[in-house]
Amino acid sequence: RGESSTAMVSLPSLFTIERHILAQQGQHPGATGRLTNLLYDIALAAKLIARETTRAGIANILGATSAENVHGEMQQKLDVYADQVIFRMNDHTGRVCVMASEEHDDLLPIPAHHQPGYYVLIYDPLDGSSNIDVNASIGTIFAIHRKITPGDGRGTMEDVLQPGSKLVAAAYVIYGSSTMLVYSTGEGVHGFTLDPSVGEFLLSHPNIQVPSPGQYYSVNHGRHKYWSPGIRHFVAWLQALEDNDRSPLENRYIGSMIADFHRNLLRGGIFLYPADERRPDGKLRLTYEAQPLAFIAAQAGAYASDGIGDILDLQPRDLHQRVPVFMGNRELVEQAEWFLQRYDRDWLAEYAKRR
Ligand code: AHG
Ligand code: MN
Ligand code: MN
Repeated sequence: RGESSTAMVSLPSLFTIERHILAQQGQHPGATGRLTNLLYDIALAAKLIARETTRAGIANILGATSAENVHGEMQQKLDVYADQVIFRMNDHTGRVCVMASEEHDDLLPIPAHHQPGYYVLIYDPLDGSSNIDVNASIGTIFAIHRKITPGDGRGTMEDVLQPGSKLVAAAYVIYGSSTMLVYSTGEGVHGFTLDPSVGEFLLSHPNIQVPSPGQYYSVNHGRHKYWSPGIRHFVAWLQALEDNDRSPLENRYIGSMIADFHRNLLRGGIFLYPADERRPDGKLRLTYEAQPLAFIAAQAGAYASDGIGDILDLQPRDLHQRVPVFMGNRELVEQAEWFLQRYDRDWLAEYAKRR
């Protein structure tokens, strides 16, 4: 008797992403709320993209458009949709001074009839797009910089091409068995799971730290024949081929960087897309793939390198520039650097010149 009023009921997490962002902002008395609102807008864009992703199979949105993007890849319809949703969500808010996307050669200026803002937004609207038609996980990546050129006007290429160490915030969304948004404003990494029944991102993974030792390594093994000696030796080391005292790491690779990165962030491990004979600078792009993930990795106690040093220290030269990527548990990434130093000196010297 009377128990029902005091009995514990099981409530879902009531920490919405809005509440979390506001709480973090509250720790900074000088904050204006502009970044908070920009992050809201990103979360809303993510919900719209998530809705289309889950409907893709039934909504006749599957399949390639006839257009090719700047890298000569077939653009998928969802790429186009995601690209436009993100742009339109942010082109009129007065919070962004310029945008850039994987899907466009040039900068995306704020339309003339809208007021430009203080932040720079760079994004990969759909990452892992080759997975769309086979119903495997895909993602979206966001990088946010401050405007550094003087004045209140529109942003320029100089505002977009900043080192990752200057990022104000980075986020990714993974459209998997559930949709998650993971973000950092430089105060830890926090993950939210979308509850589609109420349309809210709810805090599910506070303060993500990469566990050690790492469990997985993720690399496209099909490119083995193009690998340098350093990469071959490093991958053999991960497999503990010549070391009976060590167990090998398990291999997982889906070809969707966000999905591979996210798994390895939660389980520990290393993701690599190295340079090889056919791809002298690797495949992944610095500004909207490597930098934001390197920022999040660092905040989670992990490390991201181009094979020589910290990706966050690289000054981009070009919006669509590629970069070799090694990210995950620091000890694994440093091991990769060590193998490159030992076996790939000539390649490193060449690469260092254009780095
Ligand atoms: P995107 O779909 O944005 O072009 O990116 C695809 C990238 C990345 O997500 C993934 O890690 C990599 O391409 C996979 O490349 P491979 O198929 O060569 O392994
Ligand atoms: Mn991508
Ligand atoms: Mn993409």
